[in-house]
Amino acid sequence: MTYRLIALASAVFLSTTSLAGAQGTGTTVVPAGQEAPAAGTTAPAGGGAAATSTAPAAGEAPAAGEAPAAAEAPAAAEAPAAAEAPAGGEAPAAAEAPAPAPSADAQMASAEGMQPDAHPSKDTATEGNAPTEGDMGKWVDPAGNPTYNIGEDGKVDWYAWRGSKKYGANCLQCHGPDGMGSSFAPNLTESLQNLSYFDFVGIVVSGQQNKWHPQNSVMPAWGEDPNVMCSLDAIYIYLRGRTDGVIGRGEPPRPEKNEEGQKAEYDCLGF
Ligand code: HEC
Repeated sequence: MTYRLIALASAVFLSTTSLAGAQGTGTTVVPAGQEAPAAGTTAPAGGGAAATSTAPAAGEAPAAGEAPAAAEAPAAAEAPAAAEAPAGGEAPAAAEAPAPAPSADAQMASAEGMQPDAHPSKDTATEGNAPTEGDMGKWVDPAGNPTYNIGEDGKVDWYAWRGSKKYGANCLQCHGPDGMGSSFAPNLTESLQNLSYFDFVGIVVSGQQNKWHPQNSVMPAWGEDPNVMCSLDAIYIYLRGRTDGVIGRGEPPRPEKNEEGQKAEYDCLGF
């Protein structure tokens, strides 16, 4: 259901925007102070903390060396086995660079990760969070919004785990580790206190400008990027868990594979 909705949103987006740059030619905004990819760097727009420089990106993700933290997973654990990873598409190479070891203070996902001062996400505040099984192996709250589920083994569900990976590959370079924000993009664990699932989807699909910071504050539109669109719910689920204070910092331990969830993602990606 949700994927169809997203496909619809994407279609609307595609038909109403002149934004160039499908996959492969899209631009990536590189935070000031970080190394921009190779040639063609345009001058920074200037202006305080939000200053950014825009440079053509080689692909959906910055080169591995450039976003070490972005890290999709240790090779052995995450690298899809031949059987499981059709060629092309979301090739492990760029997006799934080897991850540095989790920092010592990284908390594992568990109820213990709950911060006493954590504020719930808007959906959890308004809908509560009693997860039931939705379609495609996904957990949903009573209103049908995607949500996380902590298993009896204390591990997060598959979507939340995938979401942390996808966040790392696509969002972390601006929004910081664990969704906690940086000098050039807002802390999403604060943003989600005020944004519902549908607000979130709308912003990620279409982008947003100058709400968080009055100048040069650009959230790119991801509506044309399957690497984000096919995992949009997963990213939301992960950030919802972070916002609720239930998923701690650092990458959550990998849960058992959810075949349905994995298949849904691969189908979406066209594998
Ligand atoms: C190139 C840097 C960059 C990347 C990459 C990026 N964002 Fe953003 N994002 C921003 C900036 C800057 C803003 C604030 C925009 C504004 O001021 O309106 C923002 C805003 C947002 C908001 C709205 C926050 C609010 O409080 O209104 C959400 C939600 C969001 N981003 C989610 C994501 C997700 C999910 C990803 C990964 C798929 C992502 N962003 C990737 C820069 C980025």
